[in-house]
Amino acid sequence: MSSFWNWYITILSLGTIVALTWLLFSTRKGQRHNTPTDQTTGHTFDEIEELDNPLPRWWFMLFVGTVIFALGYLVLYPGLGNWKGVLPGYDDGWTGVNQWKKEMARADETYGPLYAKFAAMPIEDVARDEQALKMGGRLFASNCSVCHGSDAKGAYGFPNLTDNDWLWGGETAAIKTTILNGRQAAMPAWLDSLGEDGIRHVAGYVRSLSGLKNPEGVDLAEGQKIYTTNCVACHGVEAKGNHLLGAPNLTDRTWLYGSSFAQVQQTLRHGRAGVMPAQQNLLGE
Ligand code: HEC
Ligand code: HEC
Repeated sequence: MSSFWNWYITILSLGTIVALTWLLFSTRKGQRHNTPTDQTTGHTFDEIEELDNPLPRWWFMLFVGTVIFALGYLVLYPGLGNWKGVLPGYDDGWTGVNQWKKEMARADETYGPLYAKFAAMPIEDVARDEQALKMGGRLFASNCSVCHGSDAKGAYGFPNLTDNDWLWGGETAAIKTTILNGRQAAMPAWLDSLGEDGIRHVAGYVRSLSGLKNPEGVDLAEGQKIYTTNCVACHGVEAKGNHLLGAPNLTDRTWLYGSSFAQVQQTLRHGRAGVMPAQQNLLGE
């Protein structure tokens, strides 16, 4: 802050306090005796007369208290221009950030050894540790349940994490990579290249792999042909998916974007691009 604004704020703040203190004392009549009188101010309203009495003592002391509080506050906390305050425990003065840093340092001191202990253990062992599971459960509730649900069973567009069916791989390392770095799926849109009829046939074909019945007019042989030409690169010859691309298994009766004929067609027409956000900067290793 430039020295002009520094002095502007300082003089204005302290000047206000001095002026209010002067006002408080200068209007305190009869302070020697501090006893009520029957003098009036000459002001009546609705036949009620205003007496010219001093404030009751307790009330007056409340005002004095606010002045003392304000001065104490301005000594301890940054309020007067560039003055940083002398709150004990803060070398560089109190600020919201400094307080947060201090709390984080205290938390690191308390929980650091605990995290270090689990970080040194193989994840498989952490997964069996009761205390670690409780901590993980709380982290999940605050960071993951908005999308994956409080029971981790997912929702439309958000995968179920309890079904042992994995888009990006279920090995420990793969799951860790998913959470740390996030994932971005890319299922292309097919409407332009296949047209509505092509979408219809291949949607029917994909649904038939899960044993679902299709409406009339779906040519499964045609659908299979389209699949072989366009889809095997990602979903595989047997349509079992590909963990490297996050391409789902299309034969397992588990659907991220719905299994109805209309929903599968919609997936194919416009494509899908599910995003799992990276957690590394939020949660750390
Ligand atoms: C903003 C929503 C969102 C949040 C928050 C979120 N996820 Fe996800 N997550 C997704 C989406 C969407 C996908 C699927 C991406 C795709 O379509 O491939 C996903 C995928 C995953 C997968 C891969 C599932 C599979 O089948 O391979 C795992 C594991 C996962 N999330 C765990 C977590 C954990 C643990 C957290 C909390 C630390 C979390 N997610 C927070 C949206 C979210
Ligand atoms: C470039 C790779 C790629 C190609 C080619 C591709 N897909 Fe996909 N597909 C994906 C990915 C990745 C997803 C997952 C999208 C997500 O998680 O948001 C997906 C999702 C889907 C889904 C949704 C599954 C569910 O559980 O809801 C269907 C259905 C599907 N693809 C069918 C097809 C068909 C049919 C073709 C060929 C016409 C095709 N895909 C071609 C990568 C591909």
